Amino acid sequence: MRKTLLVANWKMHLNTSQASMLVHRLQERTRIQRGIEIVLAPSLLTLQPLSMQIDRRKFRLAAQNAFYKDEGAFTGEVSFSMLRDLVHYVIVGHSERRIYFGETLEMIRDKVAAAVRNEITPILCVGETQQERKEGHTRQVLHDQVTTALSNLTSNEVADMVIAYEPVWAISTFGGELAKPAQIAEAIAFIRHQIEQLYGAKVAAAVRVLYGGSVDETIAGGYLAVEGCDGALVGGASLNPYKFAGIIDAAYRLRHETEQEG
Ligand code: PGA
Repeated sequence: MRKTLLVANWKMHLNTSQASMLVHRLQERTRIQRGIEIVLAPSLLTLQPLSMQIDRRKFRLAAQNAFYKDEGAFTGEVSFSMLRDLVHYVIVGHSERRIYFGETLEMIRDKVAAAVRNEITPILCVGETQQERKEGHTRQVLHDQVTTALSNLTSNEVADMVIAYEPVWAISTFGGELAKPAQIAEAIAFIRHQIEQLYGAKVAAAVRVLYGGSVDETIAGGYLAVEGCDGALVGGASLNPYKFAGIIDAAYRLRHETEQEG
């Protein structure tokens, strides 16, 4: 059974002391549980101090971004090789990076490869805009984003990675319309189907696919129960310890129910 993965994407929020306070609050409210992995993605600046603060049995760290070259004259950038001992995961291709920072399919492909080369697991974000959905292009967009991003990886590398389906229109930043479970199930099945076509059934069964877009403690249970959904990428609600702890609780409950059934 694939592990449930909950990722807190703090985006450009919280300075070092605020981040430390949030970790403290979350740590108090979180139990250790084998089937669930909780990942915090703070700003680059706070990764180092948080790495010393977190209880590693409860939390892992992720970077929100990095540059695809390992080193060189790239003023202002941080490389995956600099992050390799600090984080387990890195978010790549978030729609805010694609839209606000002009990240192209090829840049995202190179970032995924750089993460893997540095033994950091990529959490690749994919998803269509409202316009693309209206025009019936959702599948094409997902196909292009997934196939380009993975094109330099071996099947074993793909099996270990994480893909987050995040329809742009459902992310709080871009409108936050609530996606329907059936829409999520369809997109996740389509993504797994793409992986199966390219890398085979074993890889498709191993890769974890998350959902992200306005997930909070009130709807997390419903979204996590969607067929094929292995967890959530949470933005806004992850900044609030009560809300994020509520999402973790929903995952515990569901996990417990499923384990008892199976
Ligand atoms: P949101 O963000 O939960 O605030 O919609 C999700 C994301 O951007 O990953």
